[in-house]
Amino acid sequence: MPHLFEPFQIREVIFRNRITVSPMCQYSSTDGYTNEWHFIHLVSRAVGGAGLVFTEAAAVEARGRISPQDLGLWSDKHIEGLAKIVSSIDKYGAVAGIQLAHAGRKASTAKPSRGGKPVDESQEGWQSIVSSSAIPFSSEYPTPETLTITGIQEITDAFVQAAKRSVEAGFKVIEIHAAHGYLLHQFLSPLANNREDEYGGSFANRIRLLTEVVRGVREVIPQKYSLWVRISATDWVENGWDIEQSIALSDKLKSLGVDLIDCSSGGIIPGVNIPLRPGYQIEFSDRIRHEANIYTGAVGLITSPEQADEIIRSGAADLVLLGREFLRNPYWPHLAAKTLGYDKHWPVQYDRAWS
Ligand SMILES: Cc1cc2nc3c(=O)[nH]c(=O)nc-3n(C[C@H](O)[C@H](O)[C@H](O)COP(=O)(O)O)c2cc1C
Repeated sequence: MPHLFEPFQIREVIFRNRITVSPMCQYSSTDGYTNEWHFIHLVSRAVGGAGLVFTEAAAVEARGRISPQDLGLWSDKHIEGLAKIVSSIDKYGAVAGIQLAHAGRKASTAKPSRGGKPVDESQEGWQSIVSSSAIPFSSEYPTPETLTITGIQEITDAFVQAAKRSVEAGFKVIEIHAAHGYLLHQFLSPLANNREDEYGGSFANRIRLLTEVVRGVREVIPQKYSLWVRISATDWVENGWDIEQSIALSDKLKSLGVDLIDCSSGGIIPGVNIPLRPGYQIEFSDRIRHEANIYTGAVGLITSPEQADEIIRSGAADLVLLGREFLRNPYWPHLAAKTLGYDKHWPVQYDRAWS
């Protein structure tokens, strides 16, 4: 079995190890643009030894941002700043990945440091909130407008255009965000989707939008580059989206050219009791990997080198994604290599830290 520091290849993309920086919103953009913060934050994690560094969720439409300060890729003008970041991530030995997203009914909220609640124009928010159905996320949120078929096609196209721009910026891994209760998840889950047309009701109908997005995006990414999808493997709610549907979905996505399923969970409705504990989502990555026969990533409360190594060695996932641990320590992979006794992994400039 491979271990945490064994290189990994998907298509023609080679990762120096199995450690990934999970996508994390920085709430630091103006009009979707990157700035010095994104550069320093992301490139330092490449210097820190990650195999793959994901940007935060980049909105494919301005109204698809979670907060007014989200990253975006709805215009060609967003490419240049991202390209500089990609080039430096590359230079320091990591692969650069981008996550493409649309928040749907969870859009136009204040950034967490400002309370995270829905905001209107007076606080840089916006009115056009769309979803699979006219069901608000909670009583504190506005009721979204139900997307028409034309509206759905426009969103699919927005994902495709953003994927083209991602390739232009140099990203070799593109991840579609279909988790955490955002727009694509709002179509997947019966808890948010009560449509009666071909995008609602049966499993085949609820996964239709995601499969159309995947088909469109795969067509504009070179064959040598990799397409991933992040899902919430379960809503943790009875009669919601669940692991069985996730396995069936993953099987379908594999046939459409998706290489890896990034296995998260939750987010479709508030107030759900999620059994948080170290590695609480690993069981989903393990099952999807074995039952849909597709590469998977494990994420969620993975913090120690031994735990991460064991996930890979046991075959529960092909790689791990770390979120908050990478906020605490951008150099976590160096520490992990040293702790686990793997070969030197850090830049020569940092040799004396470990001698
Ligand atoms: C500040 C912050 C921002 C996040 N933003 C995103 C995001 O843009 N896209 C996403 O899929 N998940 C996002 N997440 C979730 C993380 O990617 C990760 O799945 C989650 O934090 C669990 O992993 P951890 O326990 O290692 O932090 C975010 C998490 C944090 C803490």
